Amino acid sequence: MQTSQTALLAAAARAAHRIVDGEPRILDDHLAEPLLGDRADELVAYHRAHGDHPILAGARAQTVLRSAYTERALTAFVHRGPSRYVVLGAGFDSSPYRLDLPGTPVFELDHPATSAAKQAALSAAGLDTGAVTFVPVDLAAGDPLPAFDRSRPTFVSWLGVVMYLAPDEVARTVAMLADTLAPGSELVFDHMLPPELRDAAGNDYARQVGAVAAADGEPWRSTFAPAEVADLLTARGWKVTAQPDARATVPPETWERADALRPLGLSALAHARLS
Ligand SMILES: C[S@@+](CC[C@H](N)C(=O)[O-])C[C@H]1O[C@@H](n2cnc3c(N)ncnc32)[C@H](O)[C@@H]1O
Repeated sequence: MQTSQTALLAAAARAAHRIVDGEPRILDDHLAEPLLGDRADELVAYHRAHGDHPILAGARAQTVLRSAYTERALTAFVHRGPSRYVVLGAGFDSSPYRLDLPGTPVFELDHPATSAAKQAALSAAGLDTGAVTFVPVDLAAGDPLPAFDRSRPTFVSWLGVVMYLAPDEVARTVAMLADTLAPGSELVFDHMLPPELRDAAGNDYARQVGAVAAADGEPWRSTFAPAEVADLLTARGWKVTAQPDARATVPPETWERADALRPLGLSALAHARLS
């Protein structure tokens, strides 16, 4: 298996947000570009040249909105007391190296090839990985999660991954997390909506980007309505605390802007807590 191309594209979208989009900025991921290494110029160039294109602007909106929501929730979580941060399907997410996470052990889980590429990129960028444990997993194969000690609650960020798993693989992972983690742990993930719950821009995006992802060997394999996600989580011990769509993750005035950045009606977030 090769390095996840969709992980590189997500990091490129976060890097390009700083360059192409105006105010208000939704996320300031200054490490996204360094982590792309020698692919950075090429991958960010598409956004520089065609930043107003709805697919590229949609990709930027999608990636920065889900990360910004999750990083706000994570920051609040770690400042409430001792905690652990698990990045599931981490790709080139730079949050462990960018955020103030005092005393918080971090676990990055991903496919072995992508995890190895990430570690090489971190090393080349001179970033300190001392607080981070890298764990290779294939969630589609049902690999077990590490046996986290239950002395502290865990915050799990699972962004841009669920659509690459079949519904039963998503359910199994949610159940494994509930069985493994301490009460008070939180989980945030995004999922694609079914076509009838998307808007026209979301359906265009799904047609075009879904085809590119599939051609790269990463087909989208699941969609969920928010009610289905709520049932799936509740049945496995999670209490749903929020399910915002992309637009609703930021204040309405965020969308009073002169650039091309627009939320897509394509996906929603799920935020849940273990009691
Ligand atoms: C679109 S990228 C998102 C990466 C990162 N979370 C982000 O938001 O930028 C999808 C990630 O999911 C990982 N992934 C996909 N299927 C997986 C599986 N079966 N097991 C583990 N990781 C998987 C990929 O390797 C890739 O890093």
